[in-house]
Amino acid sequence: MSAEYWPAGRRITIHDLQAATDRGERWSMLTCYDALTAGVFEQAGVRALLVGDTSAQVVFGYPDTVPVTLDQLIPLVAAVVRGTTTALVVADLPFGSYQAGPRAALASAVRYLKEAGAQAVKLEGGRRVIHQVETLVGAGIPVMGHLGLTPQSVNVLGGMRRVQGRGQAGEELFADARALERAGAFGVVLESVPAELGRRVSAALRIPTVGIGAGMYCDAQIMVWQDMAGLTIGRLPRFVKRYADTHAALLAAAQQYVAEVASQRYPDESRSYA
Ligand code: KIV
Repeated sequence: MSAEYWPAGRRITIHDLQAATDRGERWSMLTCYDALTAGVFEQAGVRALLVGDTSAQVVFGYPDTVPVTLDQLIPLVAAVVRGTTTALVVADLPFGSYQAGPRAALASAVRYLKEAGAQAVKLEGGRRVIHQVETLVGAGIPVMGHLGLTPQSVNVLGGMRRVQGRGQAGEELFADARALERAGAFGVVLESVPAELGRRVSAALRIPTVGIGAGMYCDAQIMVWQDMAGLTIGRLPRFVKRYADTHAALLAAAQQYVAEVASQRYPDESRSYA
């Protein structure tokens, strides 16, 4: 980590992310949905935090990202902003908050900046949302694109685990990525695409590509934090690497707490007021 290049005492901006990419430095993003966790990730050197619509699943317990609303996400974005001082906070525009057109997109994004203090927004799609991207950028709102597996389209894609961008779909994705850059996006997430397509897009764009299941050639990486830290269990996508077993640690702690309450070992005198 070349800490000397990153600003101290102020928020990272989209220009800092571009500068890191220009000098060939790989940087990290994680999703985040609360203040405490945000502080930990910032301390670890995560440069940008995405308050993703994956919160629909990992925070709110929905089966996919479709149901979550802007009103549900705004308090989470505000919490992550309050929990950090240097990380760039990107707020995910949920399904239904921008598809209707540039006016809807602008109204939603403005709420994120004004009510929650986000520094940037993310939306899914390429050429089909290009007018939204142009309008937001024109209004001074940094926009991150999202191509490949776009979970808000789960009902069209017919599932969530499929690798996207094979064959002709790869050419379409490539054209979408170029269109996003031309429209002024400051970065683009590539989700669940072949590594070779991730390499091609990263080589063709100047703006950073942020990979999630898009191989080793992307300029930056992002993961859902509960996947990265091993809180989620069950069948996980191939690209997920669990850097801890938080599920096991939390389970063991909670089990011990339950047992100590039952056996009256907690609270003992040392944890009681005289
Ligand atoms: O909502 C989210 O967490 C995302 C990431 C998977 C990139 O969009």
